[in-house]
This record gives sequence, structure tokens and C-alpha cells, in this order.
Amino acid sequence: MAGTTTYPIWDVEARGDSHAMWARMRHADPVHETVGPLTGNRIWLVTRYADCEDVIRHPAIGKEPSKAGLADEVFAGDQLLSRSMISVDPPDHTRLRRLVNKAFTPRVVAALEPRIRELVDEMLDRAERDGHLEVIADLAFPLPVTVIAELLGVPVEDRERFRTWSRALLAPAADPTAAEEAGLAFTGYIDALAAQRRAGPEDDLLSRLVAAEDEGDHLDRSELLGMVLLLLVAGHETTVNLIGNGVLALLDHPAAWRELVDEPTLAQAAVEEVLRYDGPVEVAPLRFAYEDVTVGEVTIPRGALVAPVLLAANRDPERFADPDTFDIHRKAPHLAFGHGIHFCLGAPLARLESAIVFEQLAQRFSSMTLGCERSELRWLEGLLLRGVTALPVTVAS
Ligand code: HEM
Repeated sequence: MAGTTTYPIWDVEARGDSHAMWARMRHADPVHETVGPLTGNRIWLVTRYADCEDVIRHPAIGKEPSKAGLADEVFAGDQLLSRSMISVDPPDHTRLRRLVNKAFTPRVVAALEPRIRELVDEMLDRAERDGHLEVIADLAFPLPVTVIAELLGVPVEDRERFRTWSRALLAPAADPTAAEEAGLAFTGYIDALAAQRRAGPEDDLLSRLVAAEDEGDHLDRSELLGMVLLLLVAGHETTVNLIGNGVLALLDHPAAWRELVDEPTLAQAAVEEVLRYDGPVEVAPLRFAYEDVTVGEVTIPRGALVAPVLLAANRDPERFADPDTFDIHRKAPHLAFGHGIHFCLGAPLARLESAIVFEQLAQRFSSMTLGCERSELRWLEGLLLRGVTALPVTVAS
């Protein structure tokens, strides 16, 4: 095992350069043992594509810490999320996912296209008038949040509050008090909204979930809260960075941007390559080893935490030719949405929203340039998400 000091895994200042760090690790020590800075637990970071696929679908590696002999409270992160589908194995996973699957199929999501186009149009109208936009605050954040809030039936005006709560709940170990307060505020808010829907159902996902809760054995109250929280968090924190990272990749690769301007229908292909080249989920949510498991040449002991590094897998030279080249014609499957039973439920929605954004940007603006020095961009803290905090651009028709 290479020493942990070799890799600045937890160093906020090194976040912008994480591709280089993962490349070194994947080459020298592809299943790398490290120690979590907050909990002091041993974590194995898995960086090769084939090994990531292997651990994600391994029957002796799963989502429930108790099956690995670990205390639930310490590792499950937020307690509400710990009751959601992303944190449980079958049969609970199968039951919870089945309840919302239908709302996210490609066909159902395609019906949202006119509304998504309308929202993107409004946001880009403003950018066209002003000649500039801050991609994250003016487009990448409000778009997915509005769409998921409308789908769920949660008032869009409250989006800044959800954002504060979801940030606090995603990092409970960093500030336990803030996480606890956010959990209470969120619970009170959704309980009140659920009571309204129970009294007068509407045509939204929350009303359907409340009906499922009332049927008793499908969904209990904490599962309902976990489901809503998971969907809101996913809607807030992921697509934002797919759009942000995509605009940045297009700014860094003017030839690809020109191609898109000439042929905006390439937007879908561009989305797939952004997902591979610089996907928004850097490290997939933690798993736990239920037994000793051999991954690559390394034996991971029972009770260990296992983290598939999706960003590293998607640039594995054993899987992709010229992995560091941004090539929108690549057509290569990737792991940005995960794999197996936990494969991202929201993938069709995230793909559609981002494709419409890239297509509309290319259709409206022949020129798009970065509005600050590249070195001024700030990267998100923490290993879960990859993206910049702000992305100012100047645009011209
Ligand atoms: C670009 C945007 C997105 C990316 C890159 C992404 C990525 C992922 C990944 C990697 C997983 C697997 C987690 C694991 O294996 O532990 C996942 C699961 C999930 N995602 Fe997404 N996601 C995105 C957008 C969304 C959106 C918009 C929604 C909801 C509207 C969503 C809802 C979910 C849910 C519910 C799961 C859990 C599925 C399960 O456990 O069966 N995601 N996502």
C-alpha cells in the first residue's frame, strides 16, 4: 500500500487537480487504503473501471453497515437518507424503487421536454439581453431544482431553503448540529405538505407517495421523508454540476464547441462525453464489505468501507482510448450514473435537461468565453461531488 500522504485526497486546495491524483493512484495503487478524516475509519478507494463495476455489483458488498458488523448511526450519514433506496439493499431497495420508477422512465420524462425548453428559454433570454451569465446560479442550479420541485409538488419558491438543508444533511459529520437542525426543519416542512396532499391530492409525485404510505405496507413515514429528501438532494446537487462541468469542458475545447454550434443535435452526444470526461459524482456513495472480499489484487476485510471512484474509472486507459481527450463522438458507455440495481433513477431526466441546455446554448450563441481567469474557479469541497462553485461566461449571438 502506498502511504496516504502520497495523495492529497482530502486537501480542498487540490480539488481542481483531482484527475491527475486519481490517475497516479489508479496506476500505482488501484485499490488504495486510506483513513477517513472525520470518522477515522479505513476506506478502500477503488479506481479501475473493471474493479468499480466489480465492487458495485458484488454480492458481499452492500449498502447496510449493520450487515458488515458496523453501527448504523455512525455510517449511514443522515438518518432520513439512511431509510431511502440509495442506502438499502433488496428487498427494501426493490420495494422503494418500484414506487417511483414509473415517474422517471424515458417516456414519462420525455413528456417534460416542453416545460424544460420553456425554462431554459427564459434563462437564456436574460443571458442574451445581458451578454453574460453566471452558469451555476443563473442556469445550472435553478433548472433542475425547478423541474424536480414541480415533479414532486414542492413549492419552487422554497428552493434556497432546500439547498441549505440538503447541504447540511449531505455532510452530517462536518457539522452535526447544522445537520440535526436541517433534518428537523425538513421533516416539519414535508410533514405539513404531506398532510395537505392527504387532504387534497394533486397530480404530483408527493400525492402518489402519500397514497402509498396510506396503503400501509408499501412506505412508512420515515421512508416517505427519505424518498423526498433523496429526490430533492439528487435534483439539487448533481445535474447542476453536469451542466457546469459541461460548459467548462466546452470552453476548454473550442473545436468541440464550434462543432456543436454548427450542429446543435450533437448535444446528446456531448452530454455523454461530459459524463465520462468530468462527471458530477466523483466518488459513488460508500459501500460496506460484508465479508473479506478480493478486489484486483487486494483483499478488503469485512467491516471496511468501500468507495468506487467514478471519476477515476471513467478515465481508465484500460477501458477508454486516450481517456484524457474530450471527444464528443466517442459513444462509450461509462459509470457516471453508477451501475447495477442502484443505477441512477434520474438519469433520463438529467440527460434530457443537460442536452436541452447544451443545444440551446449552441443554437443561440456563436461565441461563449470564460468571464474570469481559469485559476479563479473554485471547486466544491468533499469527495462526493465534482463541480465549480461559480462559472461566469460572456456570450454573444
Ligand atoms: C447528472 C446528474 C446525475 C448523476 C451524475 C447521478 C449519479 C448517480 C449515481 C452515480 C448513482 C448511484 C449511486 C450508488 O450506486 O450508490 C445515482 C443514484 C440515484 N440517483 Fe442520480 N444522478 C444524477 C441525477 C439525478 C436526478 C436528477 C435524480 C432525481 C430526480 C437522481 C436520483 C437518483 C436516485 C433516486 C438514485 C438512487 C437509485 C437507487 O439506489 O436505486 N439522480 N445517481
